Amino acid sequence: MRNYEVEAAWHYHNGTKHPNGMLLGRFHTYHPSQRPTPYKIYKNAPQIILPIEKNSLGVSTLDAISANLDIRDALVPDLQILSRILYFSAGITKKIKFQGLGEVDFRAASCTGALYHIEIYVVCSDIEGLDAGVYHFDPKNMKLNVIRQGDYRKNILDSTANESFTKHAPVMLVFTDVFARNSVKYQSREYRHAFWDSGTILANTLAITTAHKISSKIITGFVDLQIGQLLGIDMNQEAPLVVLPIGFTDKEIPDSPDLSDLNLDAISSEYEIEYPEINAMHDSSCLLNNTEVEAWRHEMTREEKNHTQLIQLEKKINSLESIENTIIKRGSTRKFSLDVITFGQLSTILSCATSGINADFVKNQTLSDLYIIANAVEGLDSGSYYYTREKNSLELLRKGNFRHTSGNLGLNQDLPYDSSVTIFFMTNLKKILEQFGNRGYRVAQLDSAIAGGKAYLASYALGLGATGLTFYDDAVSSFFSPHAADKETMFLIAIGKKEKSLKLHQD
Ligand SMILES: Cc1cc2nc3c(=O)[nH]c(=O)nc-3n(C[C@H](O)[C@H](O)[C@H](O)COP(=O)(O)O)c2cc1C
Repeated sequence: MRNYEVEAAWHYHNGTKHPNGMLLGRFHTYHPSQRPTPYKIYKNAPQIILPIEKNSLGVSTLDAISANLDIRDALVPDLQILSRILYFSAGITKKIKFQGLGEVDFRAASCTGALYHIEIYVVCSDIEGLDAGVYHFDPKNMKLNVIRQGDYRKNILDSTANESFTKHAPVMLVFTDVFARNSVKYQSREYRHAFWDSGTILANTLAITTAHKISSKIITGFVDLQIGQLLGIDMNQEAPLVVLPIGFTDKEIPDSPDLSDLNLDAISSEYEIEYPEINAMHDSSCLLNNTEVEAWRHEMTREEKNHTQLIQLEKKINSLESIENTIIKRGSTRKFSLDVITFGQLSTILSCATSGINADFVKNQTLSDLYIIANAVEGLDSGSYYYTREKNSLELLRKGNFRHTSGNLGLNQDLPYDSSVTIFFMTNLKKILEQFGNRGYRVAQLDSAIAGGKAYLASYALGLGATGLTFYDDAVSSFFSPHAADKETMFLIAIGKKEKSLKLHQD
């Protein structure tokens, strides 16, 4: 099985490391005027208007991030709720004017370079207000493009080899990645961003579905081609990454209608640029049939080592900020003050980030290990730390002022230098690839990005600023070694207080 020839994942991962990854061109340039249209356009698809209700349900952000629902109590979404789920996941929440660029739309979840290369599709049965069908979410106009009419959920269920949660889902979301929309700036490192940026969206999606008492499960094991055919996408340009079945129904999913050819005229990206390394990495992690999916599906647990010098985290802080307000108000911090945050705030963010997810590769856990540089945390010595979830504690690795290191590791940017803490989400990639093959690469990136997305939301809910960052891969592992000697960095977030009087700019 090609998925288990994991040299492909190492080749991609090592080749896209900063600095000097051999798959990254050193002289590549990108100017914001080259920014592609940040959403897919269907020229001839019938459309359905989505009602927009942005009011708060009164569920706090911290509860929405951390709660784990009992599936059987879960509700079925209607069109109104589905519309809110889509809006608070990937809708346009603000517009900012930039000199020379005009007005730029910003979305509910952060995204590398604000390029918004993740698309969301809906595959559903009849629900209140919406007929069964396959739809594409158009965030610009808050509409659904109709791709197919009829109940096609069985196609998805088959592609997951009859996954037990998917079997009972009235609605299934599919996240896809349009490679060229992000690779135009980030070249072949784009395939990492595919999971970073679907992870930050998923952190929102999970929180808002939980706020609505709708259960969900992240499905990463499916026959890729089968889903691509259902959606009618060109798999050389756009690839399905995640299926998120949501809600619960007792009714058995009926057989799907035959898949007819689609005559839809759609533009995913105006750029034709291809990075063969992205396609190669993606193809080598595809599952080809149900037997492969079934054999692949596995839940992994993490073991923790014994620790010395543990510092117990403080109790979670209470915050009433609703999940909807947090999402609408959020925006990646462009400049941090050098001020302190409190240990209670850091404790809350860590426990929210690691509250775990319900997925086909992990249950109520995260596969990520969190390494921290504390630059300015009241009640905690400056230094480097490892977070142990089981003991809800920090293990001191090295005491000292590591502001410069924090800045250097975050690609020599001011943001990780000025922030109060930087949190590196790392993972034992070797172990994950042994277990999951090349597809483990997708899982490792996604898992960290969802935890990172939760850290983003928790920080905002506490009135702090946060931003995702990119990093010098091997320098991070070296800095946290020997503890992190066998780990690779998947995601980085910097957290602190926002510098007040500052205009927003783009990275
Ligand atoms: C995974 C990730 C990595 C990012 N890396 C950087 C970075 O290295 N430097 C930077 O200034 N901003 C970075 N950003 C912030 C994005 O530029 C920002 O999310 C985007 O412009 C959208 O803005 P918003 O988050 O305010 O909606 C990153 C965001 C994410 C999600």
